[in-house]
Amino acid sequence: MEQGEKTFFITTPIYYPSDKLHVGHSYTTVAADALARFKRLTGYDVWFLTGTDEHGQKIQRSAEAAGKSPQLFVDEVVSWIKKLWAALDISYNDFIRTTEPRHKKAVQHIVNKLYQQGDIYKGRYEGWYCTPCEAFWTERQVVEGNCPDCGRPVELVGEEGYFFRMSKYADQLLKYIEEHPDFIQPVSRKNEMINNFLRPGLEDLCVSRSTFNWGIPIPFAPENVIYVWLDALSNYITALGYSSDDETLFNRYWPADVHLMGKEIIRFHTIYWPIFLMALGLPLPKQVFGHGWLIMKEGKMSKSRGNVVDPMRLIERYGSDSLRYFLLREIPFGADGVFNNESMLQRINTDLANDLGNLLSRTVTMIERYFGGIIPSPEPEEQPVDRELKETALSTPARVEELMNRLQFSGALEALWTLVRRSNKYIDENTPWALAKDEEKKGRLGTVLYNLCESLRFIGVLLLPFMPRTPGRIWAQLGIDDRPELQNWESLASWGLLRPGTKAKRQADLFPRLNIEKELKILLGEKEPEKVQDKKAGTEEKSSGKKEDKMISIDEFSRVEIRVGEIISAEPVPKTDKLLVMKVNLGEEEPRQIVAGIAKYYAPEELPGKKALFVVNLQPAKLRGLLSEGMILAATGPDGKLALTAIDDDLPPGSRIS
Ligand code: MSP
Repeated sequence: MEQGEKTFFITTPIYYPSDKLHVGHSYTTVAADALARFKRLTGYDVWFLTGTDEHGQKIQRSAEAAGKSPQLFVDEVVSWIKKLWAALDISYNDFIRTTEPRHKKAVQHIVNKLYQQGDIYKGRYEGWYCTPCEAFWTERQVVEGNCPDCGRPVELVGEEGYFFRMSKYADQLLKYIEEHPDFIQPVSRKNEMINNFLRPGLEDLCVSRSTFNWGIPIPFAPENVIYVWLDALSNYITALGYSSDDETLFNRYWPADVHLMGKEIIRFHTIYWPIFLMALGLPLPKQVFGHGWLIMKEGKMSKSRGNVVDPMRLIERYGSDSLRYFLLREIPFGADGVFNNESMLQRINTDLANDLGNLLSRTVTMIERYFGGIIPSPEPEEQPVDRELKETALSTPARVEELMNRLQFSGALEALWTLVRRSNKYIDENTPWALAKDEEKKGRLGTVLYNLCESLRFIGVLLLPFMPRTPGRIWAQLGIDDRPELQNWESLASWGLLRPGTKAKRQADLFPRLNIEKELKILLGEKEPEKVQDKKAGTEEKSSGKKEDKMISIDEFSRVEIRVGEIISAEPVPKTDKLLVMKVNLGEEEPRQIVAGIAKYYAPEELPGKKALFVVNLQPAKLRGLLSEGMILAATGPDGKLALTAIDDDLPPGSRIS
């Protein structure tokens, strides 16, 4: 890309290093990272800024409570935060700490300028202060002695101080907000700002504090420190070198394209921040986007409620891509969403292990089995199913881009999963295992497998912003990990770039299936973890393809419990032509419900009374929302047809096969 073309400046809030961050904090940063990566992928020159907000009363008190100097205290937490971002693959370009000289110097310059031009004046402050939010409140705003934002008690403060003339800029801001409908997003937050804060009238803001000293001294009154929000908000321009000897970055990237944050701090970013910028004569950010909160069932995640979830623990156990996927997919961006371990584990199993993981493993396994691992050539003529798959793949990038431009991460992933599911359906429609039985259909089989590889190539590229580690693993199995020209956005404009003849190679499953019950116990601390990683190694061995590796011992076989069952009833499962739901007598007190993919070969009415073999100690699973407590055994005939095994009529239900 030429210098000077498309730039994109995105920021997260800078985090208070008052404690380790929880998974709610990771949410803002993961979302910003996905957007930054998406913009880079689509050709923008991106600057992605994050950092830490290290001054103020809250930090000073936390340091005192820990018996440390504020600087030592923040140094330790900041180094932990940086480790967390590394573990989550956060691709920031700069990490600003407000205790750095480059920031302090520029903030003092800003305060001096505002004072000299008469926007800051001396007065006396009497009012309420919320230390956890570092926010001033008037008598009218306080709710029964508590902060209207976080609900914790406010303190009465009265001190000589310096005030910023907020009121002078209120009309100008209101006009700006009304003329720029995209400035505050989502729109509901815009109305809240206008009706609750701007229309009732803005009071001048006290921008100094004198009752503690952990902050940047006011240059013209050094017994005061600068109010932490004026200090913190300025990071967005001080990090770019504003007012320094080198303003190259500032000239290139300001104004920000998007400031991303949780909804509780929208007020500071859409009222204080634009007014400070107006006073400095600088352009305003193009957009301030306030997302919802990740909440627990008992309310907002916070240390004081004792319900925080440690992101590091989840990353260590399930990998950063799984956590990133869950955060971005589960909650429509903008709304609040409940975090719970079970839905995270379900998503990993359903979307990642089943939909995505199986698509890759089925495809590559069939290429190894039927074509010795060499990706076959497609035939020139296209069938309608091929066209449909190809069109879905080719239209997905534009759809994802449109949703990402509106910060609809969940919608973008949903659009991508439409392609993943379409590809799995393509396998079922074409039944490659049946094609493989007929030498004359080898050409068609090659087309089907080629198309699946090409679709997986698309999926890999589209996954890059969301799950940066997974695409490389997909490409390695497709044999294109050293072909960057097949891994970029431009390569999604054409279908068929993957070269036939490429050597594919089955490797470990992308996402090993989790035993949800066991994982839930581990997450609750009721069970000792054994490493998920070990399981991955196991999968790798199994898939190495050697005959000895496929052998199992008698002990392993004896763990599978197979019994005779008598089918009592069978019904089609709505909206699928593959599944039947059956009630089966297995010699137990109650019949079991078992869902089986045999609808194409057996009419529901011919099954009642039939006996068949069932695996009865499989973990129950849900298929189309229906619980299935076992698996029917069937053989695939040479014509690809499924047939149930014949059972001697004398064997009663429940007889065990050994
Ligand atoms: N230091 C200020 C920001 C100054 S920006 C100039 C601050 N820091 S914070 O550490 O408290 O919050 C950082 C970000 O984490 C905010 O966007 C906040 O909304 C987000 N979250 C904190 N808890 C959250 C959830 N439970 N859910 C979603 N986001 C959450 O505010």
